[in-house]
Amino acid sequence: MKHNFGAGPCILPQSVFEEAAKGVLDFNGLSILEVSHRHKDFVAVMDEAVELVKKSLNVPEGYAVLFLQGGASLGFTISALTMMRSGKAAYINTGTWASGAIKEAKNVGIDVDVVASSEDKNFSYIPKNIEIPSGMDYVHYTSNNTIYGTQFHSVPKTDLPLVCDMSSDIFSKEINVADYDLIYAGAQKNLGPAGATLYIVKEELLGKSSSKFMPSYLDLKKHHDKESMMNTPPVFSIYVAMLNLRNLLATGGVKAAEARNNAKAELLYAEIDRNPLFKGTVAVEDRSKMNVCFLLNDESLTDEFNAAWNEAGIVGIKGHRSTGGYRASMYNALTLESVQALVKVMSDFASKKA
Ligand SMILES: Cc1ncc(COP(=O)(O)O)c(C=O)c1O
Repeated sequence: MKHNFGAGPCILPQSVFEEAAKGVLDFNGLSILEVSHRHKDFVAVMDEAVELVKKSLNVPEGYAVLFLQGGASLGFTISALTMMRSGKAAYINTGTWASGAIKEAKNVGIDVDVVASSEDKNFSYIPKNIEIPSGMDYVHYTSNNTIYGTQFHSVPKTDLPLVCDMSSDIFSKEINVADYDLIYAGAQKNLGPAGATLYIVKEELLGKSSSKFMPSYLDLKKHHDKESMMNTPPVFSIYVAMLNLRNLLATGGVKAAEARNNAKAELLYAEIDRNPLFKGTVAVEDRSKMNVCFLLNDESLTDEFNAAWNEAGIVGIKGHRSTGGYRASMYNALTLESVQALVKVMSDFASKKA
């Protein structure tokens, strides 16, 4: 088996892959791929998936849990449209995905105030002590910066409605859903296969947008009224997400996943800090526990190091094309043994070069 450190789509637990494969061949006598989304057997899957999201994140009363399509990229637009009232909003720019959210909010007519940005240092830190002016419809941030490897370790302080793109760290650690008015996340990191996008939104906000532009698919009120069945949902992705959430709860839930993720992150960052051949690329206090970015101090060793991790069965650690270097993504399903394998490659490589 390979050690898959890919940034997404990414690994899920092996047992989930196996159950998903069984469902493709036999889901109550049909394949999950051919079953009607209106059939009671799939409606039961959707209902269970929603319930398991609520259970694993302790979603309070008054929040809708929806599974749509379009990825987090459509979430940029949908969240802006859902929250639009006066038309002004505050955004925190921590990198590519936050910039994407800003662009799409502007596209639907939001007057965006970028209240903080880490662009001055190539998005290598999380802005602190952010002043957010009053009179904004909402504040938007991206909890984990998948590409540059930074992560908010506390929730930005504001009395305004809070919107968060949690694509790359949802279900990896405990959160207080009540801190948020709207959360959205593409499935393909800690939830399931690409295809579904999760929305957790305060029901009282739905149907209150001031936007005149509101195509039906972008209207969360319509999706809520139809219980995520306004059109054909991403059946397979939701099915596997449901299996994965069952597995998450059976293995101690989000709390236990967080402890495992902390242990993995500690191990790899300790090696980066200890090993004279490597250096981390982001501010230590803002390091992501999901996406660990690092560089070789001497780039001339690149081919040799690449050969070493390739040989150890490691895949997916090349950095994003916009950053270079290495990025080891360590989502929930990546085991401690995989991280140990990478650490061993790094330390053996240093011993060889000493
Ligand atoms: C934080 C974040 N936001 C948004 C996206 C875009 O997601 P999608 O490909 O589901 O549109 C990604 C993709 O990796 C991401 O990591």
